[in-house]
Parts: sequence; C-alpha cells; structure tokens
Amino acid sequence: MSIANYKSAAEIDPLNQLSSIKANSSQTEFRTNDEFMQIDNFLPDSLLCSIQKILPQLEPYIHRSFIPKHKKGGSISRFDLDLNAPIFSSIYTSASLRSFLSSVVGKSLIYCPENDPHAYALYSYAREGDHIGFHYDKSYYRGSRYTCLIGIVDESCCALEYELFSKDDCKETVMHSTKISPGSLVFFNGDNIRHRVTPAKPRDKRTVLTLEYLTDTSISNFGHFYGQLKDAFAYFGVGNTLARLLKKAQ
Ligand SMILES: [Fe+2]
Repeated sequence: MSIANYKSAAEIDPLNQLSSIKANSSQTEFRTNDEFMQIDNFLPDSLLCSIQKILPQLEPYIHRSFIPKHKKGGSISRFDLDLNAPIFSSIYTSASLRSFLSSVVGKSLIYCPENDPHAYALYSYAREGDHIGFHYDKSYYRGSRYTCLIGIVDESCCALEYELFSKDDCKETVMHSTKISPGSLVFFNGDNIRHRVTPAKPRDKRTVLTLEYLTDTSISNFGHFYGQLKDAFAYFGVGNTLARLLKKAQ
C-alpha cells in the first residue's frame, strides 16, 4: 500500500471518537508503568461488531506456525488483510489513533515501512496449546518500537503476562497478568516489556489485532535480514515471505 493509499484510508477514520479519551491520565499511567497501559472498551462497539463479522471470511488466510517450546498459533499478515479486509489498514492509519498514542508516548510515532508484514496483523489462537513464550517485541529498527494490541475475540483462558521494570536496575521487576477482552487496548514499549500469552485450552478462541508503530524506520542490513527470517519461520510462512521478496526483486 502506498503512502497515498495510507492517506486516503486515514480519511475514513474509524476512531474519530478518540477525543473523548483523556490523554493526560493515559500518559501518567503509561509513563509510571514502564511504558505499559491498558484501556478497556476502547474500540467503538459498532466497529468491533463489523470486524467480528468479517473474521470467518479471513480464516483461509491464517498461517499456522509452530516453534517448539516457544510459539504455536495463527497469523494473518498485513498483505492478506489489505487484500481482504481494508478496515485494518484504516485502523492502523487512523490519524486519531496515531495522534493519541504519540501524545501518550511523548514522541511522534510513525508507521512501519510498507514491506513490513508486522505493521498490522491478526493473531489467532484456536487450537489447544496455542501460545507464545516470554519475549520482547524487538523489531530491529534503529528507533523504539511500540506495540498496540486490540482485542477482537476472547473466548479463552489465555492471559497476557508481562513484566514491568525488567530492564530497570533500580526497581524490582513486577509481574502482571491481564485479559485482552474484545474492544480493549493494550499499548507498550516492545523493547521494555517482556511478555507472553499463556496456552489455550480445547475449544478456546482468541483473536487480537496487533499494530506496530516506530520512532525511526531506518534499519541495518543485518536487522532487515533477521526480521525477514523471523517473519518466515515464526509468523507468516517461508513461502509467503519468499514470494514477497522475489516479487520485490523483479
Ligand atoms: Fe509480543
């Protein structure tokens, strides 16, 4: 998607009611909690319902991945979302959302490059044992990476467990656990917050929209290479990643 498309998508701003949310209190919560915050009932109900209705049409695009002792679950990359459900790019490029998150962080957040499949993606847990082990959301860009998670479906026992101050030598690490209920937003500094999602039980269903914002899009060659490798094996598939790279090279 080109920047021009970004702008036109952003004109249909699905989150233009954000002015009702108090940025000041969110800023305080975010900055005193090692750059982590949660806002329940963030997404307007009508938008949440629209998204939930289109989920069955997206099931053929879920790519399942499994890394022993670390990760098991399904993902749909931004590329498949762009082709099949443009509402997600509208949410990602929402001027209201980006402005709100930037004010919370206190820095101007920018979009990921167009070739980054993680800019926005859906994560789907629908089989017993789907989970992800403890990790940081390290992006390999030179600046900071901020992760925004929005709950879409949660009929599961899965919890997001996260540690605050794990990189702060002056403070004790504090562990928390939360559910990402439909419509709620979780926002954190991916380089700071070590986190995991606990395993799903039989018949559990959980879908989360992830959005990634940056402070600097420059990246080293190694970072680019490692990022592609991670996408291929841990998220969106070797075939999909190769096809995209070959298309770009033509
Ligand atoms: Fe993560």
